[in-house]
Amino acid sequence: MKKVTVSSLLKKKQAAEKITALTAYDASFARLFDDEHIDALLIGDSLGMVLQGDDDTLQVTVDDIAYHTRAVRRGVDRAFVLADMPFMSYATPESAYTNAAKLMAAGASMVKLEGGSWLQETVRGLVDRSVPVCGHIGLTPQAVHVFGGFKVQGRNSEQAQKIIDDAVALEKSGIQLLVLECVPSALAKAITEKLSIPVIGIGAGKDTDGQILVMHDMLGVSANYMPKFSKNYLAETGDLRKAVRLYIEQVKSGAFPAAEHSFE
Ligand code: KIV
Repeated sequence: MKKVTVSSLLKKKQAAEKITALTAYDASFARLFDDEHIDALLIGDSLGMVLQGDDDTLQVTVDDIAYHTRAVRRGVDRAFVLADMPFMSYATPESAYTNAAKLMAAGASMVKLEGGSWLQETVRGLVDRSVPVCGHIGLTPQAVHVFGGFKVQGRNSEQAQKIIDDAVALEKSGIQLLVLECVPSALAKAITEKLSIPVIGIGAGKDTDGQILVMHDMLGVSANYMPKFSKNYLAETGDLRKAVRLYIEQVKSGAFPAAEHSFE
């Protein structure tokens, strides 16, 4: 079985084949997703909300992510594994190096950082030290209190230009993947076309190079909440494995996300 790598993800973008991704936090779900040939699994700091029951992701620690990364890694043979750097764990380049090293040692093949051009030095430093980096812009949940809630970003032209500039700056600094969260579909399309690296969307419309969802949202089991951009595949199929299979099929075919899961 061929392992998914940064190079194979890039080839998918170049061949206009959609990239499929989900969050995962334990070995059993990671195994199930891997068996169904998901391309990438993210140990997201969303675990603060869907596993730990908090209102946001700010309390998640590097040790939490490392613990779940070790578990996910044990369940995976094929998928590409990314781990989130939690809030304030990359506030300085030096803290980013120390904390990224812990996540790579736990089994991640790439770390993900939320933020724009202010991260350029940190991204360069990580890449120079052989740590592959995924950017994350748009609605960055660690900045929820700056945004005043989990709100769609980039709806006015000034904000949209800032997000485009951030994407370009991060690519120049060396990120090899970008997550674009909750932005208007037209903006996501423009960024996806502008960048050479794969862009994975969540609430960013159908034109990104791939899609990611929080697994609990995709299965409709997130406590009290179903974001507009997600879809309950378990309700639709009545079976866990079939739900994952249908999600992967619909991302690949472009059937997901539909207009109702996207923002203007
Ligand atoms: O933490 C997370 O699960 C994420 C995804 C929503 C992309 O960052």
